Amino acid sequence: LQLDERRPPPETTEMNGVLMTKMMSDNWDKIWNFQAKPDDLLIATYAKAGTTWTQEIVDMIQNDGDVQKCQRANTFDRHPFIEWALPPPLNSGLDLANKMPSPRTLKTHLPVQMVPPSFWKENVKIIYVARNAKDCLVSYYHFSRMNKMIPDPGPWEDYVETFKAGKVLWGSWYDHVKGWWDAKDRHRILYLLYEDMKEDPKREIQKMLRFLEKDISEEVLNKIIHHTSFDMMKQNPMANYTTLPTSIMDHSISPFMRRGVPGDWKNYFTVAQNEAFDKDYERKMAGTTLTFRTTL
Ligand code: A3P
Repeated sequence: LQLDERRPPPETTEMNGVLMTKMMSDNWDKIWNFQAKPDDLLIATYAKAGTTWTQEIVDMIQNDGDVQKCQRANTFDRHPFIEWALPPPLNSGLDLANKMPSPRTLKTHLPVQMVPPSFWKENVKIIYVARNAKDCLVSYYHFSRMNKMIPDPGPWEDYVETFKAGKVLWGSWYDHVKGWWDAKDRHRILYLLYEDMKEDPKREIQKMLRFLEKDISEEVLNKIIHHTSFDMMKQNPMANYTTLPTSIMDHSISPFMRRGVPGDWKNYFTVAQNEAFDKDYERKMAGTTLTFRTTL
């Protein structure tokens, strides 16, 4: 047995068909009643869609490309993760958010129907990033092996089925990306795709700049692209999650900054798994205009 297979699983529970840790459900009243402010920015994603990358880009934009300022703290302390709490003495996202001066940038993985209502009431700007299902699945699988705060993924072939059934934290990928896609027509949501960001970071960062009503020089823009590249972020302790104890994330099992490319799923799916996945995908994604690229 490998060490990660012996760990006690965190307690989980389902709320309206969405799997959560018990820590989240115990705190649910507080999360649901969270008070968003009009000048907040929310970065919303399904887990493993490129959240940390987007957070670094946004922080660089907000700090006009000042790398030092962006190294003032870990990603998870710069941008409170509203529904998440870590074992003390680490801060819970809610506590961090509540004591953070405005303007705040916050993070969530909640499906759209579970976002605290104050975000809609205050008309908060939201950047949503989605990533193709197969790469999300592979990334989530490895992340679940190394992150002791989330359920053990079990063997790969089982995990493929668990993911398809949506029995993972934050629920079904399919419902998540579709729910947010529909919401973007009713709210101030910039909906981005990981594959587009990878293909042309400049173009996608420019979309973020317009959305955030920020103007920066070409020089700063190029600096942001460089500083937020996968290779740079992998070496950046304030962005790569290596400052957490191994009892929370064990990078020797799989690093947080793992591959950072579209198409890595091809190294994991068997031909049969891929065919079954595609068939099931077509059914679950029927009727949406949202489409993804699984390679570039
Ligand atoms: P892989 O596991 O496929 O490598 P999140 O931040 O939402 O948890 O997403 C993590 C995924 O984004 C990981 O994917 C990680 O490597 C990738 N990632 C992080 N920073 C990146 C960057 N600068 N460029 C591209 N991918 C990045």
